Amino acid sequence: MQVQEITGDDVLLDVRNLETHFFSEGSVTRAVGGVSFQVRKGETLGVVGESGCGKSVTSLSILRLLPKLTARTVGGEVRFRGRDLLKLSEGEMRKIRGDKIAMIFQDPMTSLNPVYTVGRQIAEAVEIHTGASRTEALAKAEEMLRLVRIADPERRVKNYPHEMSGGMRQRAMIAMALACSPELLIADEPTTALDVTIQAQILRLIVDLKERTGTAVMFITHDLGVVAETCQRVIVMYAGRIVEQASAVDLFARPMHPYTKALMRSVPDRRRGKERRLPEIPGIVPSLREAVIGCSFAPRCPRATKVCREKTPVLEEQGQDHAVACWHAHEVVSA
Ligand SMILES: Nc1ncnc2c1ncn2[C@@H]1O[C@H](COP(=O)(O)OP(=O)(O)O)[C@@H](O)[C@H]1O
Ligand SMILES: [Mg+2]
Repeated sequence: MQVQEITGDDVLLDVRNLETHFFSEGSVTRAVGGVSFQVRKGETLGVVGESGCGKSVTSLSILRLLPKLTARTVGGEVRFRGRDLLKLSEGEMRKIRGDKIAMIFQDPMTSLNPVYTVGRQIAEAVEIHTGASRTEALAKAEEMLRLVRIADPERRVKNYPHEMSGGMRQRAMIAMALACSPELLIADEPTTALDVTIQAQILRLIVDLKERTGTAVMFITHDLGVVAETCQRVIVMYAGRIVEQASAVDLFARPMHPYTKALMRSVPDRRRGKERRLPEIPGIVPSLREAVIGCSFAPRCPRATKVCREKTPVLEEQGQDHAVACWHAHEVVSA
């Protein structure tokens, strides 16, 4: 059975067979190789996988923020409330960005401009997207800084980004992203660069704001511990494809793909109170320059057999809302 599609009004984002390539002198990198998933209204979807597996390129493809000269989405659809974003004009797309879909990054300076005060930047986003007056927008900026729990917001609106700490800048970026009440927030490793205590605070903040505003969140991270704490559903990516998708509860209780299992073994052990990484998965993510024959995880997989090296497994439903792309899924779950 193929993967069941969720249809109906609760689907906010519906990505189908998304394919994005990078082009450089004579070679093509298949960064995203046919990815399909959905984000439902108000839910938090986790996107996990090792560095280089296509998480960021997937989100940049959705928002059409890829480098124009080297990258191109060559196939698929990105339906947001039924409209294919890939078909919109640049002007229409600008209205979607920030207004309907906002994005936060690992490095807040990707979004914050160093030469303007934080308050002015948030206010400007509010003015553009909501048509509020300058005074209303500045009041909104202050309110947003208060909402993301920045102390002394009436003073902080006048700060330049460099006058804030890393954690505070991250909060300011979240404030800016949420100022126009987007329906979808894409958070790409928003806490990776921060120390562990601040990370936990920022995560809590995103979860609280999400609960308060009903914004759906696509949470990209390489940390499965973060997913366990924040997400309802999860997709696991490997080498530009989705290898497993399930509810978070089911994924942790019953991981089926050998790659997901290996990722779970390498979750940092926080219970010991320090960032201790368990043994990493041996081997490296394959080059995306050659077309994959068979399963791209096969060279690193302890269970790989002949069929894995010859035929590419497709994502198949294995139970209620749990799909996996592995020829040996059932053996893995019982192992
Ligand atoms: N600017 C770029 N130029 C060329 N290739 C890139 C670029 N950015 C990403 N890629 C390719 O796309 C793949 C996926 O990258 P990315 O989505 O950033 O991974 P992730 O976010 O999962 O760490 C990388 O392995 C790399 O091959
Ligand atoms: Mg990334």
